[in-house]
Amino acid sequence: MQLAIVQTSPVFGKVQENVQAALELMESMPADLYVLPELFNAGYNFIEILEVERVAEQADGLTFQALLAFAQKRICYIAYGFAEKADHLYNSAALIGPSGLVGLYRKVHLFDRENLFFQPGNHGFPVFNLPFGRIGMMICFDWIYPEAARTLAIKGAQLIVHPSNLVLPYCPDAMVTRCLENRIFAATADRVGRENRGSFDLQFIGTSEIVSPSGEILARLDKDTPGIVAVNVDLQQADKKRINHYNDLIIDRKPDQYSR
Ligand code: ACM
Repeated sequence: MQLAIVQTSPVFGKVQENVQAALELMESMPADLYVLPELFNAGYNFIEILEVERVAEQADGLTFQALLAFAQKRICYIAYGFAEKADHLYNSAALIGPSGLVGLYRKVHLFDRENLFFQPGNHGFPVFNLPFGRIGMMICFDWIYPEAARTLAIKGAQLIVHPSNLVLPYCPDAMVTRCLENRIFAATADRVGRENRGSFDLQFIGTSEIVSPSGEILARLDKDTPGIVAVNVDLQQADKKRINHYNDLIIDRKPDQYSR
């Protein structure tokens, strides 16, 4: 399958423009699955909850409708981050395809001031079956908890889609380890640009990447330019957890020796 990561440069609060900019990048590159950044339609650096409420959408909102039209026209799947308006506000990611919504993930590990605006996710880490493989979802800062990627691997995910808005420099290299230790693919789609909102100033690090189960960086974008890259991957490679005659990385875990 052809797997694409889309690195955008959202303008804070300009939902329609941000969706349009992502669609233009996607138009330029055929793929079976596109991964977009966290909160790609809204921007990230909120100062007050009213700003979140203004851009938050239900899972079937306008952003979903615009991306669904693309998925139907191109017969493809799209994973993207958005602020979800439900019983609470969640920092969510949707996976959609030609038939509509495949599934939702609500970010479990909120980063920094996200804690002021969003409720932590309450549905665990989901894995969805697509025609070309099993797709697990996590969002940005979830990377720093190895339990997130491990849970997805134990649940059978072959590929982790990882919408992100990275500000710390560590994740792109850390994802190599997440992939190696779980023998799994990951597609981290990050944003670029800066959001200076008074005393809250954030620079995003780009460096979106696709990593293989052996920790090979199959594609990596730069730190400051929007772009898209696609790689042909065989997701079944992620089913091989045995690294030698004696070690299967999942079966050989020793949960009775671990702390909760
Ligand atoms: C982050 O979780 N957006 C850093």
